[in-house]
Amino acid sequence: MFSSLLGAFRSPCNAVRSTPLRSVNISTRSISNSLTRTRPNWNSGCPLHLRSQQKSLLAYRLPWQRRASHNLALNKRFFSQAPPPSEPLPILPPKSVGIWLMVSSTLVFAIIVVGGVTRLTESGLSITEWKPITGVIPPLTEREWEEEFNKYKATPEFKLLNHSIGLDDFKRIFYMEWGHRVLGRLIGVVFVAPLAYFAVKKRISGSLAAKLGGLALLIGAQGALGWYMVKSGLDDKLMETPGAVPRVSQYRLAAHLGMAFLLYAGMFGTGLATIKEWKFANGGNWMGLSSSAFGEALSKLPVRAFKARAWTLTGLVFLTALSGAFVAGLDAGLLYNEFPLMGGRLAPPRDELMSPAYAQKPDGSDKWRNIFENPTTVQFDHRVLAITTYLGTTLLFLRARALRQVLPPLTVRATTVAFAMVNVQLALGISTLLYLVPVPLAAAHQAGSVAVLSAMIHVLLTLRRPGAAAQAWRALYNQRVHGASKK
Ligand code: HEM
Repeated sequence: MFSSLLGAFRSPCNAVRSTPLRSVNISTRSISNSLTRTRPNWNSGCPLHLRSQQKSLLAYRLPWQRRASHNLALNKRFFSQAPPPSEPLPILPPKSVGIWLMVSSTLVFAIIVVGGVTRLTESGLSITEWKPITGVIPPLTEREWEEEFNKYKATPEFKLLNHSIGLDDFKRIFYMEWGHRVLGRLIGVVFVAPLAYFAVKKRISGSLAAKLGGLALLIGAQGALGWYMVKSGLDDKLMETPGAVPRVSQYRLAAHLGMAFLLYAGMFGTGLATIKEWKFANGGNWMGLSSSAFGEALSKLPVRAFKARAWTLTGLVFLTALSGAFVAGLDAGLLYNEFPLMGGRLAPPRDELMSPAYAQKPDGSDKWRNIFENPTTVQFDHRVLAITTYLGTTLLFLRARALRQVLPPLTVRATTVAFAMVNVQLALGISTLLYLVPVPLAAAHQAGSVAVLSAMIHVLLTLRRPGAAAQAWRALYNQRVHGASKK
């Protein structure tokens, strides 16, 4: 009986099968429901994945489980009365999954900054081929370097811009772009190998494995998109266009940056949520609220309205960042280097913003191209979006203060951090413009946009409920630990 009970405590499926216990006063499900008023997504019966999970659950017991099972071993009376979970528990990803995702998102953060510096130092077009496997080895001999340099000499960037650089300068820009590409591969390995491990060992649920598998595919797609972007800057047609500047398409640059932001958001958001849920399952509070308070707090109307605003603002941050990529792609930060005015007025003249010169159709019906192709309009759009984001964050901050009795305490703090970050970002953006886009400021401004996005994701996370698995494990925690202490 002793061993079967210990087994029941360790493994949900065993717990279902071996029911030698006398009293089952509170089921895990009823606790969970009373806490949250939402019904956890229980698996019926003991499905295969849970059965095979038993081993991993044995190996990865939560700390309180270890403490509690030790106490149980000492307390025989408790053993004969403790209620078993009435149904198998869903998989709760361990903290290590959260840490791995946070490390991956930090690497994506790093590659976003390295990518920015690569562009700002005009190094991005120095490698003229895409070799996903062999490209990891740079030229090793002088002959190989000469060959690589000769390939670069055939590009429009060398012919139009860099015709006076020597081999040493070439090596410098080559290593910058090479570092960016190697970091991309490293992210692939750091993400995919542990993902496969966690999925095979059933440490993550099927739905989480599918979501993270989607992110893994996005990493591959990001590599391909990066090359598609670089190709646009190597195109010989640039040589035929009078006044053309050898640089990559701003559309592709924005797509590349946008996808990097999505990847980052997916890893960072999931990683942070996993860690928070793990702590909650281990008896921690939820966003500063007790485990019996968050259900009611989060369903209040002002809180739900606040959450809708936070979502809108996060979308706006993303849009502002995308518009920033158009500014960077067109070197639009090199004009109108003043703020808040542009040429002595709040907005440039209308015919400059919507110039017929950017329309390709004879009737001028595609003047919308100005929005994406005219540097003046692109900079103006970025200013308008940035100021709107700034005002939106300020309003959210003030609203959080007004609602501080109703919102989870962590939401109020996270909103303050987001407000602080957007102030820094605004200052960095204005300085980048006033000082004609120096590399350190522009790179910091790019990093700042990721920081603002992270702060907003954190705000959103503080406004969600713990997942069904975390709630179920927490209910079991309450049942075992608090139940044990009552006895
Ligand atoms: C919430 C506010 C802002 C966000 C999220 C944001 C985001 C971004 C992003 C992601 C880029 C692209 C960087 C790159 O690809 O290298 C960028 C570029 C830029 N932003 Fe902002 N920005 C904000 C505010 C501002 C403000 C207020 C200004 C000044 C008026 C500004 C001026 C610039 C300039 C000049 C660039 C081009 C820098 C370059 O060529 O590398 N930004 N911004």
